[in-house]
Amino acid sequence: MWKKWFGKTEQYVIADNQLDKDKLPRHTAIIMDGNGRWAKAKGMPRVFGHRAGVESLRKIVRTASNLELEVLTVYAFSTENWKRPAEEVNLLMDLFSTYLTADIDELDENNVQIRFIGQIQDLSTTLCRKFQDAQARTAKNTGLVFNAAINYGGRAEMLCAMKAIALDVQSGNLPVEMITENSIQQHLYTADLPDVDLLIRPSGDFRISNFLLWQSAYAELWFTDVNWPDFTPEYFLQALHDFQQRDRRFGGLKIK
Ligand code: FPP
Repeated sequence: MWKKWFGKTEQYVIADNQLDKDKLPRHTAIIMDGNGRWAKAKGMPRVFGHRAGVESLRKIVRTASNLELEVLTVYAFSTENWKRPAEEVNLLMDLFSTYLTADIDELDENNVQIRFIGQIQDLSTTLCRKFQDAQARTAKNTGLVFNAAINYGGRAEMLCAMKAIALDVQSGNLPVEMITENSIQQHLYTADLPDVDLLIRPSGDFRISNFLLWQSAYAELWFTDVNWPDFTPEYFLQALHDFQQRDRRFGGLKIK
């Protein structure tokens, strides 16, 4: 697959056969940012950007699945996004629903396991049930684990974990000295998944924005100023390629 894409500041020419299949990240996370700015630059309403963002997501999920990646987690709606106008929030909820209706068969046929991470119980009953049904339907799939983070916040996730641990201590089931990093990990939405290896953020901001705070402790960060609706699979391949050139030491020394 040879394709060329000339970005605003970068030039990418990467093919998937240039990737080392044995050195792919186990867990890739993406902050899908820049939909609003993309739409504004075109003189269109923000909604237009979110709709275009769904198309980008679709292509990236297909690429991740084709590459046989293990886990892809995307940030679709944060616990802070409720501060946006109700009209935009409602539209995003509608988009999540229509995306699922349109893509669930394809995801399932391609052995993708979809999961929703975040406080989905606080969404509308209909949407929450739809998410749960999609999760249940694809639960036995063994391909890509595709996590959509919706009403998700990294601090809220850790707070939940800490409360659960506190309850175990209070009930006498867990001595304080037995609390380990693993105790916290085991209470996260991603308890059974590897830590994030690669965190991608488009749209020119250099922030983590409360996303997978615990899981990204040793993630390699990859940024581009391209907005999410323009984030094509070529960028994704470039990010994976760059990841493979990184020297990961996890606080230790390089083994020669
Ligand atoms: C951030 O861009 C994007 C969002 C808050 C929504 C992301 C949602 C999608 C891409 C829809 C598809 C998702 C699923 C799971 C079907 P922004 O609005 O903050 O952009 P701005 O920073 O330019 O204003």
